[in-house]
Amino acid sequence: MNKNLRKAVIAGNWKMNKTPAEAKELIRAIAPLVKDAGCDVVACTPFVDLQAALEAAAGTNIEIGAENCHWEKSGAFTGEISAEMLVSMGIKYVIIGHSERRQYFGETDETVQKRTRAALDAGMTVILCVGEYLEQREQGITSELVALQTKVALGGVSKEELKNIIIAYEPVWAIGTGKTATADQANEVCKLIRDVVAELYGKESADAMTVQYGGSMNAANADELLSKPDVDGGLIGGASLKAEDFAAIVKAASK
Ligand code: 13P
Repeated sequence: MNKNLRKAVIAGNWKMNKTPAEAKELIRAIAPLVKDAGCDVVACTPFVDLQAALEAAAGTNIEIGAENCHWEKSGAFTGEISAEMLVSMGIKYVIIGHSERRQYFGETDETVQKRTRAALDAGMTVILCVGEYLEQREQGITSELVALQTKVALGGVSKEELKNIIIAYEPVWAIGTGKTATADQANEVCKLIRDVVAELYGKESADAMTVQYGGSMNAANADELLSKPDVDGGLIGGASLKAEDFAAIVKAASK
């Protein structure tokens, strides 16, 4: 597998943090630090911050993304936001299936598949999250579980559409815990995801697929994680809220 065949993507997942004014400030702080990045740089923000983030990112190499979208275009879905709405305001990226959505908001593999479908139909790039809980890792079912999540989410996705999907491997036990997967553990599952993609779409598509690692990636461990052959970038939570830390990860991915 050749890492040069695919793009490194560093994406921040701000989760439920920052007001619009703070979002503007953070994007403005990040922009000069990542302007020469050798990878794609994305900041996924809360819905209410998107407009401010877009304005602050105008003319920079930072793309703005959302953290979720609904599978219907419009309708009686109180509290939800459609992919069409996001696209209409100029948003190109969306995170789907984050473990916090699965854990706290009843997201299932099936709803992840529906949301992915809707985002692709709207022309967005999807950052699709998969990953296991600690108990599942201890039971030795990480491979089966991650393969299943990947296969269900990609149900109905064509080979052409796959170009608009990034898969993020996020072991739930490493999210926000300060507990990072070792570089070898991260690489092992990122490779497994790539093998699943190869099985479904062929080697060429798998080689071109960006597979990120997420889970307590930070300025100190990014180099080692990103040096692995199947780790093509990162989905960054906590460290994406500090301009210097996020920029250091972007720098590590640009090597
Ligand atoms: P942390 O980097 O805070 O562990 O969060 C990872 C994550 O969930 C990114 O989506």
